[in-house]
Amino acid sequence: MKRNLLALRHLDVDDIQYLLSLAQEYKDGLRFAGGNGPRRSIGLLFFENSTRTRVSFEQACHKLGYVPVNFSGDGSSMSKGETLKDTILTMRHEQLDALVMRHRASGAAFLAAEHFSGPVINAGDGQHEHPTQALADAMTILERKGQIEDLTVAIVGDVRHSRVARSNAWLLSKLGAHVRYVGPNTLIPSNMSGMPGTVHYDLKAGLTDADVVICLRLQRERMAGPLVSSANEYTKMYQVNRGSLRVAHPEVIVMHPGPMNRGIELDDATADGPHCTVHDQVHNGIYVRMAALEWSLGEDGAA
Ligand code: NCD
Repeated sequence: MKRNLLALRHLDVDDIQYLLSLAQEYKDGLRFAGGNGPRRSIGLLFFENSTRTRVSFEQACHKLGYVPVNFSGDGSSMSKGETLKDTILTMRHEQLDALVMRHRASGAAFLAAEHFSGPVINAGDGQHEHPTQALADAMTILERKGQIEDLTVAIVGDVRHSRVARSNAWLLSKLGAHVRYVGPNTLIPSNMSGMPGTVHYDLKAGLTDADVVICLRLQRERMAGPLVSSANEYTKMYQVNRGSLRVAHPEVIVMHPGPMNRGIELDDATADGPHCTVHDQVHNGIYVRMAALEWSLGEDGAA
């Protein structure tokens, strides 16, 4: 059965738990890629920059015995004016079995899913969602904390432009965490209604007793104009560092989806310290993407 993975908002708790358990089985060496089935070709369509997400999808393909077919907007017919819809239809007739797509427009993955024959996995659509990053983060929290239910998770920084914040907010609250959005009011959407969680404009209040802190980069490429007066002032008020973390739970974990802007949203000592999970998140990204690919192609062996 074909399944798209477009947004955590629309994924039910059973599917989330199933994907996390598949990923863990791969990581623990309890599950191996079949290798006997048809060799699947997976289109990796990245119209926006990516390091971690792209490499880990490619790694996931290799580990599953699938063939990654790389495509980027630059150097393609899109730079000659071809529409996204026509590009997706072309991919369909190139006989790709699944598409992984990152695009600057919120909702682009949904458009792709309408026109493509196989499953589509959203690898980040504008400021909307980034489901596999949230799955990697959830897997990391489960490993470090043993649970998600009842944890207090503070998402700190540029929530407004962050697809990572949205996917994490949906996933973590579906699994019973208490989500807080922390940052200046210019970086927290004025209308948070419909999103689970509470808003804190004060860093200390937002970090008090937090079990998990997710740091976000200032995503300047998505800002129409300046939304913070200066990086310096932002850093003084909102940086996650040893001082600001004093009010958090003593065993708080500090997460970051990358790329980090060291010295701005978090300091070096925190980024390199024992509480930081940034490398675990990258590592787990491979396994959740293996799970997502298998699941979306219906090759996970489940009925
Ligand atoms: C994030 C993204 O692209 O949404 N990075 C990632 O995929 N790990 C976060 C960001 O760009 O700040």
